[in-house]
Amino acid sequence: METKKVTVHIPATIANLVCGFDILGLALEAPYDIVNLILNDSGNITIKHIDAYNLPEAPLQNVAGVALYALMKAYPSTIGFDVTINKQIKPGSGLGSSASSSAGVVVAANKLLNNHFTNTQLVGFAMEGEKLASGVAHADNIAPCIYGGATLIRSSSPLDIIAIDTPPLFVTVVHPQIEVKTSDARQILKKDVSLKSAIQQWGNIAGLITGFFKSDYELIGRSLEDVIIEPIRSILIPGFNEVKTNCKAVGALGGGISGSGPSIFMFSTTKDIALAVEQEMKKIYNTININYYTYVTQVNKQGIQFI
Ligand code: HSE
Repeated sequence: METKKVTVHIPATIANLVCGFDILGLALEAPYDIVNLILNDSGNITIKHIDAYNLPEAPLQNVAGVALYALMKAYPSTIGFDVTINKQIKPGSGLGSSASSSAGVVVAANKLLNNHFTNTQLVGFAMEGEKLASGVAHADNIAPCIYGGATLIRSSSPLDIIAIDTPPLFVTVVHPQIEVKTSDARQILKKDVSLKSAIQQWGNIAGLITGFFKSDYELIGRSLEDVIIEPIRSILIPGFNEVKTNCKAVGALGGGISGSGPSIFMFSTTKDIALAVEQEMKKIYNTININYYTYVTQVNKQGIQFI
């Protein structure tokens, strides 16, 4: 078999977009991972990490390995892959780090297999990686990672993914250096929702999507409200309420927890506002003495790219 290899650039993602728990997500320009794949006919996978995070390299313990095995099982002949991952999206940040590895390898593999699979199939394979990472095969990071822009998971079984147009938006993210495991952040959620809260949440989801399609920034801002998940999860993130209040005071449209946290994101209409938002975030975490990273970035419209 001739050596076939490919390298991909994979965006970080914000799942939930505040009101859309497990159904909405958005891809970012930064941070991003780089993954290289070489196709062979061994029937096996090797994984090498060339980054700082000490993730397991045994394929069945690595989200990329599990996602690739799902793809290999569905392919009509015996294939194998050598994978090299350079991860810049910190695991446990709430920025779709596990989705990046899972989605990146299946998109890269599909290119090496002359696009044998559809995007929807690729999302399904990558969801196996999410299952390993968090115990639940959610697609709200995977879909925007692969499709780019914002996506709606109207249904996960069967998968029904809708691409959502977004107007120009600046995104400021702060990643306080505390650990919040997605599995823990899911465990603490209530299993039942009151009809009153559900009605408020439906209004906000519909408002947010309408705001995106109509480029109505005011509507986007007032729809970034979560009455179900945020009141519970925000307790795990020191400084959360101050970040929301102070960033809105300097002009952010709104925002909230990125995925299951601990990162927090805020949308702004201009770069100047996004930079002022970053300063507010820095002030808050400097005061409470927690280390952090910040990103000022924009929506990634392309999804995973070949380089
Ligand atoms: N929708 C998932 C959650 C995203 O909030 O648990 C996790 O990255």
